Amino acid sequence: MIEISELRRIYRMGDVEVKALDGVTIDIIKGEFLGIMGASGSGKTTLLHLLGLLDDPTTGRIVIEGTDLCNLTDYEKTMFRLYKFGYVFQDYALVPDLTVMENVSLPAMLRKDRDDQKILDDSHDILKKIGLFDRRDHLPRELSGGQQQRVSIARAMVNKPDILFADEPCANLDSENSRMVLDLFREINEEMKQTIVMVSHEPWHQEYFHRIVKLGDGKVISDEINGHGK
Ligand SMILES: Nc1ncnc2c1ncn2[C@@H]1O[C@H](COP(=O)(O)OP(=O)(O)OP(=O)(O)O)[C@@H](O)[C@H]1O
Ligand SMILES: [Mg+2]
Repeated sequence: MIEISELRRIYRMGDVEVKALDGVTIDIIKGEFLGIMGASGSGKTTLLHLLGLLDDPTTGRIVIEGTDLCNLTDYEKTMFRLYKFGYVFQDYALVPDLTVMENVSLPAMLRKDRDDQKILDDSHDILKKIGLFDRRDHLPRELSGGQQQRVSIARAMVNKPDILFADEPCANLDSENSRMVLDLFREINEEMKQTIVMVSHEPWHQEYFHRIVKLGDGKVISDEINGHGK
């Protein structure tokens, strides 16, 4: 589904060069729950940003279902992000002055092919799925961290993206809330057949992943099907 070949991202600061990614080649398969792991500074976030079209590679190619992302115009990239991708960040990134319902509806409202009734129905459906329908008129600050992260997952899912990207979504959560978030990802993956690419450095998260790509110094050091995962 996504073919990533020889991806490099070099940051240049004055005379100093940092090879954040140094020739990464992987294929992401439709429907898989892929974990990207590795030590701090190994290039996980950089890889996710390149895949999610939030940053451009220095060299290398990303091809999604036949489309070479390097050849897209800025407008086409924006459309790709809006129509095909969903994002979940470590700090939830909810809009503080909007209600839960408004936050979740936001990506659907940006699309031209959704009428008001569809936006309402889709937002309600996904809020029910994450178990926060009854909190839809609350502001983000009135929710716990785990609940806020579930809202941000609902927001990422409202457009039913081809791929859901999550960068350390449990980093600010205790283990109980982390489990709720991971269980929700698993449910979305199994029931909605959603492809998920998630970055984590917590060893116990591995049990959730179908496959684990480990990065070290910007390179793939292992790429294995997870025998213990589902
Ligand atoms: N904007 C930037 N400018 C310069 N160097 C950067 C920039 N972003 C990342 N780097 C460097 O690139 C390397 C990879 O960073 P990246 O954020 O991808 O690591 P990571 O695996 O996500 O780490 P963490 O687990 O701490 O989030 C690091 O050496 C980092 O210092
Ligand atoms: Mg990171």
